[in-house]
Amino acid sequence: IITGGASGIGEAISKIFHQEGSNICVIDNNKNKLENFEKSIDSKDDVLTFSFDVSDENSWKDCIKEVLNTWGKIDVLVNNAGMSLRSNFEEMKKEDWDKVFAVNSTAVMLGTQNVIANMKKNRSGSIINVSSIFGLVGSARSSTAYHASKGSSRIFTKTIAAQYGKHNIRSNSIHPGFTDTPMTEDIHSIEQVRNERLAMTPMGRLGKPEDIAYGALYLASDESSWVTGSELVID
Ligand code: NAI
Repeated sequence: IITGGASGIGEAISKIFHQEGSNICVIDNNKNKLENFEKSIDSKDDVLTFSFDVSDENSWKDCIKEVLNTWGKIDVLVNNAGMSLRSNFEEMKKEDWDKVFAVNSTAVMLGTQNVIANMKKNRSGSIINVSSIFGLVGSARSSTAYHASKGSSRIFTKTIAAQYGKHNIRSNSIHPGFTDTPMTEDIHSIEQVRNERLAMTPMGRLGKPEDIAYGALYLASDESSWVTGSELVID
């Protein structure tokens, strides 16, 4: 299950998991992107798509019910859907803070809560939360709620790792650096911002969605079977 799986990093994760032979359930609240995703993938009965807002609890319940009716079990959940609202901290409205937290933090909890019983039953599961380098350090820039919500997802990841290791369920976070996706298209097209970000990136180029997706593939696979509570920084 990949949330925000129809665009950017999530789309790359969905496609790489599918190429590697997984049945994939792709959730995205953007219907157009989801339709384009469906068209772009050669699928038979190995792809399910759902359009809903991941901060909606009831939609999660319906989705998981259908996935379990179709495939019987859930191996991997990637909480990737995310959003950012940029404003000066002093002008930021509480409702904007709440919106960002609903998607970047509360929805990560909801997704996890909805798959955990099945993973416990199977004695197997990998939960992968796409946080950010801004879940590790603060930033002088304007997305205060984004940075705080990504920090929340990081510690939530470790709490689940500590609680569910005994059930053979792993939980890890990924911390992407500046990656070219539809989310960052606007700011990365400003030459000054792009150059600033390039100057902070040792490899001398910004990330591609696939750079992050291969990290998710590792964390989803049995090759990472002793890896939990970790922070995979890909920047
Ligand atoms: P994107 O905007 O290309 O893709 C995000 C997808 O999530 C979109 O398809 C969107 O429709 C979906 N989505 C957003 N809110 C949703 C909701 N409430 N319910 C269901 N679907 C929802 O963005 P990108 O860059 O691929 O981001 C993916 C993740 O990576 C996000 O969590 C983001 O915060 C994180 N990230 C991205 C970085 C970057 O530089 N692009 C850097 C660090 C972290």
